[in-house]
Amino acid sequence: MKEVSNMNKNEINYKQLKELFIKYYGESDQEIRFFTSPGRINLIGEHIDYCGGLVFPAALTLSSVCAVRLNGTNTVNLRADDLEGLYSFDLDNTEAGKELKWGNYQAGVIHHLMNEGYEVNGMDFLFSGTIPFGSGLSSSAAIELTTALASATLSNNVAEKGIDLIKLALIGQKAEHTFCGVNCGIMDQFASAMGKENSAILLNCANLDYKHVPLDLGEYTLILANTCKKHALGSSAYNKRREEVAEGLIRINNALGTSKENLCDFTEDDYIKAESLLPADKIRDRIKHVIFENERVKKAADVLSQGDLSAFGEILREAHKSISELYECTGFELDTMFDIACGFEDCIGSRMTGGGFGGCTINIVKKTSTDKFIEFVGSEYTSKTGITPEFYICDIGNGAREIKI
Ligand code: GLA
Repeated sequence: MKEVSNMNKNEINYKQLKELFIKYYGESDQEIRFFTSPGRINLIGEHIDYCGGLVFPAALTLSSVCAVRLNGTNTVNLRADDLEGLYSFDLDNTEAGKELKWGNYQAGVIHHLMNEGYEVNGMDFLFSGTIPFGSGLSSSAAIELTTALASATLSNNVAEKGIDLIKLALIGQKAEHTFCGVNCGIMDQFASAMGKENSAILLNCANLDYKHVPLDLGEYTLILANTCKKHALGSSAYNKRREEVAEGLIRINNALGTSKENLCDFTEDDYIKAESLLPADKIRDRIKHVIFENERVKKAADVLSQGDLSAFGEILREAHKSISELYECTGFELDTMFDIACGFEDCIGSRMTGGGFGGCTINIVKKTSTDKFIEFVGSEYTSKTGITPEFYICDIGNGAREIKI
């Protein structure tokens, strides 16, 4: 990930991280190990992972990292290189971790790993990372996967239990539901676990079937534009959308006399048949977004595999309009960023990415026009919003793993 703006840190310095770890926790004869998991972008398929839909995320090279060491006690200690203070919880009472001001993600992951039968040990952790917090790039899923992989690897019975990254992704999702209050889908944790360099992941969230699709954009590149408007997923808007689509599923099943399990089991034709039978309100808009977005993912994956980038870009723009107008998950800053990018000649596709309500857009821009794009979009955006945005060239990286240094 090349920094092209004022991002404060870009590369993890493992040597420094180790020195800081020893400064905080002291020397010991146990080994200090390092684990990392990436953030993600989502090319298309927004807010449909929890409706059994298809999504198309890719892991970034921006990541969450931890240094970790067994401490021979029954306590898990957590620190971060950019936070004051030590956060701890006891393995006999992981539930208490819900109350931590910071560290509830890690406590939740360890709680669910133990429920799955992993004999987790007392450990000291020091976290670091390069994912801008609150930018909609899944820093929380990355922390969950880093913690899950580290804690499972250092558990007593790892030889018997093994490491299955998809199971760890599901554990991360459970932690988010039960310890963090966000009723999220599986996309972020899956992408953080299963990312592959230079590939996107076409994931069916109904059954977790997936394939890696090479992301070759030829003379174009992906630029992330951060609105620098913090998104707050914990806020009730995300959970409210989930309730709305649950209600939407009941309504469309009733309208069509069906009993399908997921909104994404319905086709565009089904929706057209049902439309006049559904109350004309926001729930109907949500249903329409979900069903058409799922179809858009299929089309987008097809045109991308044929190398038709301008068709791909067109589908991304449609997807943004849908998430903005029908699903109402964008807001002034994201829509402004999108509109400005669409007015730039060498940008052939743009849309918000991730949970929304702030965060980033992704933009497909001619490589030779990168600087001009950043200059034009940056200054227009600032003049319209008063906010200085950040831009990053997207590098697509690998999923959760141990780093040997
Ligand atoms: C957040 C959630 C994901 C997904 C996206 C929207 O990132 O964590 O599960 O629902 O929003 O696509």
